[in-house]
Amino acid sequence: MWTWYKLLIFFYLTTEIWMEKQFVSRRGMNLQAYSTGNFTDLERTRFKRALYKGHYCRTRGCCEDRNDDCVTHFYEANAMCYCDKFCERENSDCCPDYKFFCQGDNLYQKGCLRDGRHYEEGSVIKENCNDCTCSDQQWRCSQQVCLVRPELIENINTRDYGWTAHNYSQFWGMTLEEGYKFRLGTLPPSPTLLSMNEITVTLPSKIDLPEFFISSYKWPGWTHDPLDQKNCAASWAFSTASVAADRIAIQSNGRYTANLSPQNLISCCVRNRHGCKGGSIDKAWWYLRKRGLVSHACYPLFKDQIFNNNGCDMASRSDGRGKRHATKPCPNNIEKSNRIYQCSPPYRVSSNETEIMKEIIQNGPVQAIMQVHEDFFHYKTGIYRHVNSIKDESEKYRNLRTHAVKLTGWGVLRGAKGRKEKFWIAANSWGKSWGENGYFRILRGVNESDIEKLIIAAWGHLTSSDEP
Ligand SMILES: *[C@@H]1O[C@H](CO)[C@@H](O)[C@H](O)[C@H]1NC(C)=O
Ligand SMILES: *[C@@H]1O[C@H](CO)[C@@H](O)[C@H](O)[C@H]1NC(C)=O
Ligand SMILES: *[C@@H]1O[C@H](CO)[C@@H](O)[C@H](O)[C@H]1NC(C)=O
Ligand SMILES: *[C@@H]1O[C@H](CO)[C@@H](O)[C@H](O)[C@H]1NC(C)=O
Repeated sequence: MWTWYKLLIFFYLTTEIWMEKQFVSRRGMNLQAYSTGNFTDLERTRFKRALYKGHYCRTRGCCEDRNDDCVTHFYEANAMCYCDKFCERENSDCCPDYKFFCQGDNLYQKGCLRDGRHYEEGSVIKENCNDCTCSDQQWRCSQQVCLVRPELIENINTRDYGWTAHNYSQFWGMTLEEGYKFRLGTLPPSPTLLSMNEITVTLPSKIDLPEFFISSYKWPGWTHDPLDQKNCAASWAFSTASVAADRIAIQSNGRYTANLSPQNLISCCVRNRHGCKGGSIDKAWWYLRKRGLVSHACYPLFKDQIFNNNGCDMASRSDGRGKRHATKPCPNNIEKSNRIYQCSPPYRVSSNETEIMKEIIQNGPVQAIMQVHEDFFHYKTGIYRHVNSIKDESEKYRNLRTHAVKLTGWGVLRGAKGRKEKFWIAANSWGKSWGENGYFRILRGVNESDIEKLIIAAWGHLTSSDEP
């Protein structure tokens, strides 16, 4: 068996050497023909190298029939040469390696083509989230479900679902499972959290809720725009810090408007030990109550969570009068204020749409837990509703999908099929390039993606010492 194989290789090598020799001698004449022309030394060297390598059609790829675009630069002749079948006419303008490389009678033609390029056997290229290997002249690709699915984008954008989808480059190349694993990061709510009593806001029962409400219009400068969690599965920390920051600013009447540090939570909340691998919001709120957070400016996000050891760089201790103070300076050279911000125990708001609206307009943005489906990653603009697709329903990902976001307002607009649709305005934590400047709108009053299932809020913990 082995001898046979070696023989074959030997035969292959000798054939190749023989063919190249033939080629050189044939082209040798041409070299003379061209020598009257003006060639730089570099070009001559290239020419000689190209003769040996003969990589024209091998790089460009071969084409069937006549194809005038199937052309590459034959620089030693300062001309173009062709790799389509048509080049074999009487006055051949085929590339030197056309016969050897493109003609089917060459038994030893190996490798694969892609986008007109030739790849050696065993080459691996990435096709979105899948690895494709060139094997026996064919690309064999892994069969993972990718996070970005062009056919899903196409389906959403060609139908009237009320929202449009986008091919996000930051998601390209990830598998769907990686999307669920790295871009969300809130554990399903614990029974304790779910059994919390709902608090209803006592507002004059006849309060007129406006048709539109946007927190940042009512409290300009006091609410905080979305950050980017990148591949850190910590929406538990981003949404909690953001809701707490908004509420502390609102309840302090604008005295404390700093954004709070999700990194402080990620690195220091030992009860959520997994940090960027997911956490629970009740533990995040526990930390805000018991330990408190510094500002985002004081403890900014790490550039790259994966390569940071994520040790905690901040600590606080009580002054015995109900306030806590940082025991370390800010872990950066710019921000000096390491003030600690705390919150009351969190409370659950009713799932009733009207109650949620009252809570927001009265006290500020709230935290909402939602189920994320694969189409949600593609959201660009409009009023989101989940669009079913086959692969999405695979049970495998069920427990990975919980996400925490911040509801900041609501409205009514014409949506799908020209109908008037009620929506929430929500802040995500996928940066400002995602969705509507980092925000999204989602159907309101129908528990879309469980968005109304669990609504959480808290009060800023402001003591008399916080007064001016
Ligand atoms: C070589 O180049 C020179 C100047 O660049 C030009 O005058 C001459 O005609 C060229 N010769 C040929 C054969 O193209
Ligand atoms: C989507 O974006 C990626 C890179 O960001 C690109 O390579 C790919 O071709 C795009 N796909 C579609 C269908 O537009
Ligand atoms: C929600 O609460 C309001 C009063 O705040 C009530 O009128 C309405 O019927 C409730 N809706 C549901 C679905 O329970
Ligand atoms: C929302 O939907 C989820 C899942 O279907 C369900 O468990 C929850 O009770 C619903 N909540 C409301 C308020 O309808």
